[in-house]
Amino acid sequence: MADLHNKVAIVTGGASGIGRASALLMAREGAKVVVADMSERAGRDVVAEIEQAGGIARFQALDVRSDESCAALVAETLRHFGQLDIAFNNAGIFASPSLTEDQGLTLWQQMLEVNLTGVFNCMVHELQAMKAGGGSIINTASVAGIRGTFGAAAYSASKHGVIGLTRSAALEYGKYGVRINALCPGLIETPMTAGPGSGFSEQMINGAVRSTPLRRQGSPEEMAEMVLWLAGPRAAYSTGAHYVVDGGFSA
Ligand SMILES: NC(=O)c1ccc[n+]([C@@H]2O[C@H](COP(=O)([O-])OP(=O)(O)OC[C@H]3O[C@@H](n4cnc5c(N)ncnc54)[C@H](O)[C@@H]3O)[C@@H](O)[C@H]2O)c1
Repeated sequence: MADLHNKVAIVTGGASGIGRASALLMAREGAKVVVADMSERAGRDVVAEIEQAGGIARFQALDVRSDESCAALVAETLRHFGQLDIAFNNAGIFASPSLTEDQGLTLWQQMLEVNLTGVFNCMVHELQAMKAGGGSIINTASVAGIRGTFGAAAYSASKHGVIGLTRSAALEYGKYGVRINALCPGLIETPMTAGPGSGFSEQMINGAVRSTPLRRQGSPEEMAEMVLWLAGPRAAYSTGAHYVVDGGFSA
């Protein structure tokens, strides 16, 4: 039985990695999905993949740093599909590690702007749309949002912020039937962590895998399962919480 039948979902960062896997899974479970991303080509590929599998999706160009762009995302979703039930605010960036004193104000501001302000920008408009009929918002934080991360102070601070934002908004919007939770992935094999320019060296990956009780990286599909659960009716009593899916890394 498709859990998300007749639901409309937004996925930011939906062109790649965890967002892509979540868009595909939610569409398979019956949701109409808006794949929103800066990367138009890859985003349209995800839409095509959903459509080829018999699902319904559309692409929306998005830069989460812009309030205007986030407003347009929600407005276009409502114009096209008439409702908004689920929002997975997942777009994010990482950077090559450096000591806190060397991170620099530019990197600090970039991290906060995309990873934290970006979630805030989306939530403002999503909450306005969901207030009347309820909904589920899932924000991507990280295990870096619940503990310190060597070499990634700005990233870690941005993800701690996502959890604070999630919990605070959950206090305010529960009475409207809007549930708001955060996902905290561990090390997940996506373009963010794999390949050249990812910011993760092989040494870092191997070190993290050694510190993970399940002794491997997670897959985007494993994150999507938690997103699906939080998005759907089976999580009806869950709000204001963060869900760690990290192979035991933070245990
Ligand atoms: N991969 C991991 O190990 C890991 C671990 C913990 C948390 N996370 C978080 O999961 C989320 C998804 O990461 P991923 O690993 O799938 O990475 P990814 O790089 O595969 O996907 C990120 C997507 O976000 C998009 N994006 C970046 N900046 C944007 C902006 N300003 N506006 C709109 N879209 C933008 C990118 O185009 C890309 O499609 C991020 O928030 C990341 O911080 C990832």
